[in-house]
Amino acid sequence: MTVTIVGSQLGDEGKGGVVDLYGDAADVVARYQGGDNAGHTVVHDGEKYKLSLVPSGAVRGKVGVLGNGCVVNPETLFDEIDTLRERGLEPDVRVAERAHVILPYHRALDGIEEEEKEDLAAGTTKRGIGPTYEDKAGRRGVRIGDLLDPEVLRERLEYVVPQKKALAEDVFGKETGEEFDIDHLYETYREYGERLAEEEMTVDCGTFLQERIDDGDNVMLEGAQGTSLDIDHGVYPYVTSSNPTAGGATVGTGLGPTVVGDGEVIGIVKAYLSRVGTGPLPTELGGVEGQTPDYDADAGAGGDEEALATTIRDEGGEYGTVTGRPRRVGWLDMPMLRHAARANGFTGLAINHIDVLAGLDEVKVGHSYEFDGDEVYTMPPTTEQWGRCEATFRTFDGWPEVDWADVAAEGYDAIPENARTYLEYISDELDAPIYAVGVGPGREETVIAENPYESQ
Ligand code: GDP
Ligand code: IMO
Ligand code: MG
Repeated sequence: MTVTIVGSQLGDEGKGGVVDLYGDAADVVARYQGGDNAGHTVVHDGEKYKLSLVPSGAVRGKVGVLGNGCVVNPETLFDEIDTLRERGLEPDVRVAERAHVILPYHRALDGIEEEEKEDLAAGTTKRGIGPTYEDKAGRRGVRIGDLLDPEVLRERLEYVVPQKKALAEDVFGKETGEEFDIDHLYETYREYGERLAEEEMTVDCGTFLQERIDDGDNVMLEGAQGTSLDIDHGVYPYVTSSNPTAGGATVGTGLGPTVVGDGEVIGIVKAYLSRVGTGPLPTELGGVEGQTPDYDADAGAGGDEEALATTIRDEGGEYGTVTGRPRRVGWLDMPMLRHAARANGFTGLAINHIDVLAGLDEVKVGHSYEFDGDEVYTMPPTTEQWGRCEATFRTFDGWPEVDWADVAAEGYDAIPENARTYLEYISDELDAPIYAVGVGPGREETVIAENPYESQ
């Protein structure tokens, strides 16, 4: 069977940790979208692993697959594999031949376009994600399979590189270097192709996964980013360029929707909100210069909200895994979560970071929005409309700081009562049962209510 892990908010909900936790029972962990914009943290035997591209399961000896829906930077891929090897692991990573390759000109153009966009910039990770997906949709991309065939690679590069160079130079007025040079790119990427072939890393993803499922293996499908960063269902244009939502798990792997739908789809929820990047955020506390729209540093500094935001940011370690940027933080946004529950069809929830909120007198939740005089319970379709929404808050009594490792060992009923009230409110509103509760970053700091591989 399959278990699909989906971020329900704006990324960094703790997906990596949940994949690691439930991945024990999985034989194969496949990522279905995104690239090295993701940053997943896995803590294993007291060691912290930060992975951008390699599926989180690779830390635990699972076969890790990068699905056809991913965009792959081979440099990052081999760096991560080499680093894991240096740390004594033997990651077994396969890459879909249909996955698209991030080339150096994609990264360069990501940076150039972000600068150009000003207020429309999403604050990307500058990993070349958007430009690579653009070329995929424009049918001028280079795929992993093309790296294995030098003639095809050369032909693809000869078509596309002059266009990219002209875009950078003539449209954006930038000087270009070897990242736009066909010969240099050809040599470098042909070598990556050779290494992929030597290490027998490439697969026909859908066939590979289906055969494993037919053999009785458990497959986990790992999403990156989150529902509100989805190119279709997120806060466009402040989104990523792929589909983190559960539908992406089928097109991004080549498994049929009935196969994915036969399994479980688990929504990963952070008990509050964090966001690295720009765009509106109705439940935001305080703000972060350079990311919060119209942020006024003087007006915000020193206020109660700003102090609370700083506490949550520091307690939760809310600094980007990939870019190190401070993340914007806010109260939980229920309309955002209702939207996610519908778009993904969650069969269960993992709610993380309740330890971060411990010790606060009260915990608020944006229960609904006031939108142009109406009370609404889910996100409106345009981001401009979302920006006009004002959160209507519900207040919950806070819960104390406790020994969370003990709580995790004892189980769900050991969670402080007020925190359980909060968790059950979320579960009721989303009409999905709680499978796990994160009470700390460590693997043993999770309360497991249900193991999806055992519940079938
Ligand atoms: P991902 O992108 O969704 O995989 O999440 P990240 O790894 O980028 O960010 C989540 C961060 O929170 C990591 O540093 C995790 O170790 C940490 N984390 C995950 N779950 C919990 C939790 O329940 N409590 C606390 N305090 N930290 C957590
Ligand atoms: P994980 O998998 C949080 C954000 C960027 C930016 C927008 C577009 O760790 O949850 P991109 O580089 O994808 O074109 O940037 O999306 N973003 C993330 N935010 N977690 C992530 O991944 C993210 N990946 C991209 O900050 O606003
Ligand atoms: Mg992350």
